[in-house]
Amino acid sequence: MAFQKNFAWGVATASYQIEGGATADGKGLNVWDVASMTEGRVFEGHRGEVGCDHYHRMKEDVALMKQLGIKAYRFSISWSRLLPEGTGKINEAGKKFYLDLFRELKAASIEPWVTLFHWDYPYALYQKGGWLHPESSDWFEEYARVCGELFGEYMEHIILVNEPECFVGLGHFTGGHAPFLKLPVFDVARVAHNVLLACGKAEKVLRKTIGHPVLIGTAQAYWPAIPATDAEKDIAMAKRETFTCHRDFGCPALWLDPLLKGKYPEDYLAWFRENGFVPPTEDMEIIKSKLDFCGLNTYSGNPVRDENGTPVYPVPSPAVPKTDMRWNVFPRTMYFGPKFIYERYGLPVVYTEDGVALTEWKDLNGEINDDSRIDFLKRYLRELHRAAQEIPVAGYFYWTLYDNYEWTEGFSKKFGIVHFDPETLERTPKKSAWFYKKVIETNGEEVFK
Ligand code: BG6
Repeated sequence: MAFQKNFAWGVATASYQIEGGATADGKGLNVWDVASMTEGRVFEGHRGEVGCDHYHRMKEDVALMKQLGIKAYRFSISWSRLLPEGTGKINEAGKKFYLDLFRELKAASIEPWVTLFHWDYPYALYQKGGWLHPESSDWFEEYARVCGELFGEYMEHIILVNEPECFVGLGHFTGGHAPFLKLPVFDVARVAHNVLLACGKAEKVLRKTIGHPVLIGTAQAYWPAIPATDAEKDIAMAKRETFTCHRDFGCPALWLDPLLKGKYPEDYLAWFRENGFVPPTEDMEIIKSKLDFCGLNTYSGNPVRDENGTPVYPVPSPAVPKTDMRWNVFPRTMYFGPKFIYERYGLPVVYTEDGVALTEWKDLNGEINDDSRIDFLKRYLRELHRAAQEIPVAGYFYWTLYDNYEWTEGFSKKFGIVHFDPETLERTPKKSAWFYKKVIETNGEEVFK
């Protein structure tokens, strides 16, 4: 009944969402620092400069993870904390912070899974043109090299970038996330291409810089189409739709095909060409990378059925439970989603994020009895377990450790297994934290009880 041996049971966080210390000890600003200071960008003006104060409470947080039995910790490095200008001079305090974190994790026997970039793009580079600048992939390569040189001895699992679908799509196309741009397809396609070049260059420089074997992957915002029924034709349609360009930047094939196969999907090439962008062929060899796993961030999926060869997306029944994000609870996503990815790319799958936001607060006894989160975990992990009987699934990282700064939602959305009070900065494990501890201890068997 258990998951594979050495399954990476973890939690995931992101630098901007928890660190705080926005201007502490020489850190440079990033695009999210600026967004959180700008009126109208974030729910009720919630500011991110203190975050969960992890920058000052890192040791306490690692101790808490140890107490909760966490085996692996996915976190991101803040590019502008390490390189305040984005390139060039290293901030010694930033370097020390991450070295201390790596050492603390090692002492606690928690495996670090490091994300190089989780959306907090250095403001200094943004002012030079950001991801549109022709040298933007070189800037990222330099940053990756510095990370490899400084932290390589502690790095065994690396995620190059978190959800390019979001920081490219939401950040540069639909304008919902920092840097809040609504650029034409021609420009966004160039942004996407530069991000892919950046990943290709980073993968190579990291392997060169780090003297020992290291597992490198991605973390896709993966919201697959899932079959509305178990009929073969619906399954085939869901798979086809998952990898189809819907004239946005959210399709996993846009990112994983160039990285793993060295070519863009034909439908994307056609869409880009129509908008004046032709990706230079000579770049494809640089982009093509040797990745070790496909990281997936999944919260839900989109049911689809095949009607005479046409995809039809039925409106979900009002009976389907919805999370506080208004996302549908569709456990089957965790069965079909990873299978589709494995069938296309043949790499082990790691759930680099999955979780649920609920409306909840501390009760009069000071407890958070989040039974719905426990139920969500059971439902989603049972389906993931079903997939793991058929394909290699190497890990699962719950999003997230504690209630944090949820981007434009501020502190209003609560995904944590640990409650966080933004006024007192107090951390209180919820009932689900103790449940998750048991899940880890039993290598998953607890979800079947
Ligand atoms: C993922 C991100 O998209 O989902 C996280 O990688 C994020 O950083 C999480 O916090 C929750 O969703 P949302 O909509 O709050 O960003």
